[in-house]
Amino acid sequence: SVYSITALILAYLFGSIPTAVWIGQAFYKIDVREYGSGNAGATNTFRVLGKKAGIPVMLIDILKGFTATNLAYFVGAYTFAKPHSVQFTNYELAFGIAAVMGHLFPIFAGFRGGKGVATLCGMVLAINLQAALLCIIAFIIVLLITKYVSLSSITAGFVYLIGVTFVFPGGPIGIVIYGMCICALILVTHQRNIERLLHGKESKVNLFKKKTT
Ligand code: G3P
Repeated sequence: SVYSITALILAYLFGSIPTAVWIGQAFYKIDVREYGSGNAGATNTFRVLGKKAGIPVMLIDILKGFTATNLAYFVGAYTFAKPHSVQFTNYELAFGIAAVMGHLFPIFAGFRGGKGVATLCGMVLAINLQAALLCIIAFIIVLLITKYVSLSSITAGFVYLIGVTFVFPGGPIGIVIYGMCICALILVTHQRNIERLLHGKESKVNLFKKKTT
């Protein structure tokens, strides 16, 4: 319907808000894509500008995915898709993924965005709170042990797939396929990180230091 197309475009535009780039430019006169890993995400903002910039970027990027996913309620109100029906979940997945695509290829920042982890987190929080919490716990544990954000993100992707497949089954069959897609998407966006991890060259984050250079 015209509502779902509108919501899909809105979701992409939400996701396209280049939080890391805009916060860096507005408050530090810096494009974070020119430093660190070159990624326009919360991790690299944290790495380049410290936690005062990194934490807001993370929260806003999570909110983008969460808000976009919840546009399903707006469409549902017009198409009579019941919340938590298969049809409703499909809308949530479509809008969430549209936001993630916006984050990866932002129309407001020359289509050079981030890796989609925070935005995916927001989407998953909106769709399956239990699976999301499982991912967040896994992410934090791996981060505390290894200090590699990328490895934590990749682990969270696998934990999501395991979560929706085995731990919290009962959702629509499509959700497992989406779980696979999300997991694959994280692997694709983290190709460079995986290479660096394999060569022992990935940078670690110092969670308790104010600013890294
Ligand atoms: O959120 C993306 C993270 O998993 C890796 O970021 O900047 O270390 O490539 P970065």
